Formats: sequence, structure tokens, C-alpha cells
Amino acid sequence: MTRFAVLAVCLAFAASFEARAETLLERGDYLVNSIVACGNCHTPQTPSGPQRGMELAGQFVIETPAFKAYAPNITPDLDTGIGGWSDIQIADAIRNGRHPDGSLLGPPMPFEYYRKMSDRDVAAVVAYLRSVPAVRNEVPRSAYNIALPEAYGPEVVSVREPSRSDPVAYGGYLAGPLGHCLSCHTPLVNGMLDFENQLGAGGQILDGPWGVAVTANITPHEDGIGAYSDADIARAITQGVAADGTRLTPPMGFHYYRNMSADDLSALVAFLRTLEPKPSP
Ligand code: HEC
Ligand code: HEC
Repeated sequence: MTRFAVLAVCLAFAASFEARAETLLERGDYLVNSIVACGNCHTPQTPSGPQRGMELAGQFVIETPAFKAYAPNITPDLDTGIGGWSDIQIADAIRNGRHPDGSLLGPPMPFEYYRKMSDRDVAAVVAYLRSVPAVRNEVPRSAYNIALPEAYGPEVVSVREPSRSDPVAYGGYLAGPLGHCLSCHTPLVNGMLDFENQLGAGGQILDGPWGVAVTANITPHEDGIGAYSDADIARAITQGVAADGTRLTPPMGFHYYRNMSADDLSALVAFLRTLEPKPSP
């Protein structure tokens, strides 16, 4: 079977799980509008949240010395969005970082994380993308001054549904493959995320329309969230308010995270508590 045929079978299989109370479309709506927050890059943001009527229509520009990336229009518009792509092509873009013509997509879309998104969750995200209103919005192409890799890793064809029986493990799935929290909250050393020595220690500088934001240390160290109660952590994530009451700045997607279920939020907090305490860089 070709890789597309294998992926098609996996997605069809994932879709057949729908028998449970939550449909695939409901799951996709929940994911995209909470923990996964695709719109935090793909929807224009205003100070009071995602711009109405422009959901997933693109245009956010992320500029670094390595690239000037535009988050494209991923609504079903035929000309300016992804209305002409098949479900399999969309899933392939999310998990393998590839365009339908086989060329690679560039950063900062977090492919390294999305590679581990389960078949059912990726099928749910695709189902939801299909359901949003098509918006006509032509977005410029990204420009990369760095060479993109040949691939983001071995071909992803199937990823099993994670178990929810262990909240810490499921919290790790929420913080990683779904929410990619640690890609913002880990410092860069020589342009590479230092997962090995400083996982979660913060210190990345992200500038944009909000000004200059420095990502927080989210490990249980005293420089991080060591003194925070579970409720303080949950409030920071969902409302963008630190334990001392100060407002946190974007680009963290508070407007999406506030839609997380209580169970998911407590699993996420339980996972953060298990990170190794690290001082801020
Ligand atoms: C951190 C920002 C960011 C997040 C989060 C993000 N993306 Fe992207 N995405 C991008 C950028 C930037 C590109 C363009 C890359 C390029 O030009 O090569 C892109 C490209 C795409 C494309 C290819 C579209 C095209 O026309 O080429 C699809 C499909 C896509 N993203 C879907 C998603 C989905 C679905 C999610 C959530 C699961 C998501 N993205 C989350 C930044 C992001
Ligand atoms: C796009 C980058 C980005 C992503 C993704 C992101 N954050 Fe953040 N986060 C930030 C920034 C920047 C701050 C600091 C804002 C400030 O200081 O005003 C922050 C602050 C926080 C804080 C507050 C810490 C404190 O000291 O009060 C917590 C907790 C947190 N993030 C957890 C998370 C979790 C959990 C996730 C994943 C669900 C996540 N973040 C995803 C950028 C991000």
C-alpha cells in the first residue's frame, strides 16, 4: 500500500470510533478551540481574542532571523485556503509537515509535536477544519533563510489513541502533541531548544504586536511555578493572570485554553508538577 492508502485506512478507522458520545466533529471543535489552538497562529488576534469572522483565515506573521513565516489561510476557501485539499493531504500537512505537492512546510508550525497526535485527534481536527466558514484571504508565502530538512522524521502513518487512565501521562499528551507548551517554554541554546538540560525553564524571547514577551519558567522550581497552587496554575493557563494578579501577555493562547475541560486542565497541571525543577536561564 502507498503511504496515502495506509493513512486513509487509519483515518477511516479513527472515524469509526465516533460511536462514543462525542462525535469526531465535536472533538475537533473542542481541540482546535482549546488546547491545540491552531488559531493562535492561523487566526488574526485582537487584544480581546481571535478576530470574529476570520477564524483560521491566516495572515499572522512570525519573523525571526531565520525566517519570515506567514500562517496560511486554512479555511475551506477553494482559491485562498485549503478547500481543494483532501482530508489525507491535510492530515499529512499536520503530522508530516508536507504540502500536497510533496514539498516541506516550514517552522514555526510545531510538526515535531503534531507527529505524535493520535489518528483520532488528527481526524477530528481535519473534520473541524472542513466545517468552518470559508473565508477569502490571500496570504503571502513564507520566506526561509535556512535550509529546511528533507523531512521532519520517519513517515508518520498511524498513532494510537493515548490512554486517559493516568492523568500525568495524559497531561503529557496535552502539553506535548496537542498543546506544544514546551516548545515556547524551553530556552534556545544556539538556535536549538534545550530539551535535554532546561526543559520548561522558559526564557525564550518572543516579540510581536504585543511587545516583547519572555516565556515563563513552568517547572516546579522557585523561579517557576513551585509556589503556585493548582488553582493558580490553572488560572494562569486559562485566564492569563499570574499568581500575584499581574496580567500575562500573548502569544500564549489564553483565549483558547480557557475552553479546556476541567479534567484536561487538571491532567495538564498534574503533568507540569512532574517536570524536573530548573532555574530560569
Ligand atoms: C506556531 C504557529 C502555528 C501553529 C500553532 C499552527 N500552525 Fe499551521 N502553519 C504555520 C505556518 C507559519 C505555516 C506556513 C509554513 C510555510 O509557509 O511553509 C503553517 C502551515 C499550515 C498548513 C499548510 C497550509 C498551506 O496552504 O500551505 C496547514 C494545513 C496548517 N498549517 C494547519 C494547522 C493546523 C490544523 C494547526 C493546529 C493543529 C496548525 N496549523 C497550527 C504556523 C502554525
Ligand atoms: C506561543 C508560545 C507559548 C505557548 C505555546 C504556551 N505558552 Fe505559556 N507563556 C508564554 C509566555 C510568553 C508567558 C509569559 C507571559 C508574561 O510573562 O506576560 C507564558 C506564561 C505561562 C504561565 C504563567 C507562569 C507564571 O509565572 O505566572 C504558565 C503557567 C504557562 N505559560 C503554561 C503554559 C502551558 C501549560 C502551555 C500549553 C498548554 C503553554 N503555556 C503554552 C508563551 C507560551
